[in-house]
Amino acid sequence: MKKDNTTLILKVKDSLSEDASRAIARIDTEDMESLGMEVGEIIEVEGKRRTVAKVMPCYAEDRGKNIIRLDGISRENSWIGLDEKVKIHKISYKLANKITLSPLTVSSLLKKNKNTKHSGSFIEGLPVIAGDRVRATLFGLKSCDFKVEDTIPDGVVLVGPATLIRIESKETEESGALKVSYKDIGGLRTQIQRIREMIELPLKYPHVFKRLRIDIPKGVFLYGPPGTGKTLLAEAIANESGINFISIKGPELISPGAGESEREVREVFKKAKQTAPTILFLDEIDSLVPRRGSSSTDSHEGMISQFLIEMDRVEELKGVVVLGATNRLDLVEPALLRSGRFDFLLEFPVPDEDTRLEIFNIHTKNKPLAGDVDLRELAKKTGGKVGSDIEFICQKASILAIREYKLMQMAEDPLRDKTTKVFALPSARVSNRVNADKELSISKRHFEEAMKLVMVKDINN
Ligand SMILES: Nc1ncnc2c1ncn2[C@@H]1O[C@H](COP(=O)(O)OP(=O)(O)OP(=O)(O)O)[C@@H](O)[C@H]1O
Ligand SMILES: [Mg+2]
Repeated sequence: MKKDNTTLILKVKDSLSEDASRAIARIDTEDMESLGMEVGEIIEVEGKRRTVAKVMPCYAEDRGKNIIRLDGISRENSWIGLDEKVKIHKISYKLANKITLSPLTVSSLLKKNKNTKHSGSFIEGLPVIAGDRVRATLFGLKSCDFKVEDTIPDGVVLVGPATLIRIESKETEESGALKVSYKDIGGLRTQIQRIREMIELPLKYPHVFKRLRIDIPKGVFLYGPPGTGKTLLAEAIANESGINFISIKGPELISPGAGESEREVREVFKKAKQTAPTILFLDEIDSLVPRRGSSSTDSHEGMISQFLIEMDRVEELKGVVVLGATNRLDLVEPALLRSGRFDFLLEFPVPDEDTRLEIFNIHTKNKPLAGDVDLRELAKKTGGKVGSDIEFICQKASILAIREYKLMQMAEDPLRDKTTKVFALPSARVSNRVNADKELSISKRHFEEAMKLVMVKDINN
């Protein structure tokens, strides 16, 4: 949809995972031409906020579709959801002399290196403007999100090899630190699709649904064993949908005082109504609305009744959908699942082998894996394990590798400054297979060791 020669309006689609965190915008080469641009030049992307990205040609199958592919971070930087439209145009930029970043994810690696300066760069090649969020892989191991606090010069800048980067650690972590996007979820495609169809689209386009007389559910229940991605998926929806999202853990609403919990429940629904369209996510809902009779206190009974009343009122509220999550459906008050309250149940199963492989890929992305690591084999060997177990295995294997690497460095040269290897693994961005002997790398042994720990559920270490 061309507006004029210099501005285009395109529909936003998700990027492929290899473009993640790189501020890349893939568009049709014809669109690039009409903007008068070459590959690698910078565009301004205007959603509800403005950000910048590098243009790259789209994939053959995307040609002629008037779409732009942006990853979760660029979408967040432009405050735009999937399938929404953004304006883009060419913009001039300067090479950055200096950039000040503040970490949004608190990493123990950063804590030790507070207020440090680095030249050269773990975010080299990224176009940014102040206020943007950027994601970098520190030490080739851990993804860390930063906010661009300041740039010299002002305006749109490109980070180059000579850009001085100052990291200013703030004591407090900004809420909602590391933002999860759909790409951080292995499998669960049907669940994502169903939630988008049943919640996101009706809340965004209520008039269409009304016209077509399609019933919108008031409540959707996510259920499945612990660690299967229920909370993870809810977080992704919160970040991706662009719809107001209130997230509350069941136990947070339980207060000991008489009538207090009921009041809290009323307040939460009221707030959802005031901010509609809103998704109200009630995590660990079994503790909030347990099967009646299973809980001994009267105050809990009162709260359950209050909750049922609020759910029945949701119909009139319009623009509020309640998403509940539990790992024990049998513990939840059955009256809640009666039709007209939570009409829809979505199961989160224990992942199969292919899904486990996807989850292994997600949790080893940007990590320096040694050549002997076969993720398919790891997926085969972890039958019955869930996403949180796989995350644990990958983290534990990384820790074991770092420990071993540090010991090796100290054995080589006990006086060596341990911080000199900072940001020394840019190669991990291109391929995460590295030479196991010389550089820090996670090898098959580390994964096997980590797997033993998870198999016996020894998570104290
Ligand atoms: N499908 C998945 N893909 C990628 N990572 C996953 C997946 N499922 C779980 N994980 C990892 O496990 C962690 C825990 O998962 P999550 O908190 O979503 O589980 P849950 O289903 O809400 O469990 P519970 O019932 O105990 O609340 C996530 O933060 C994520 O790192
Ligand atoms: Mg959970």
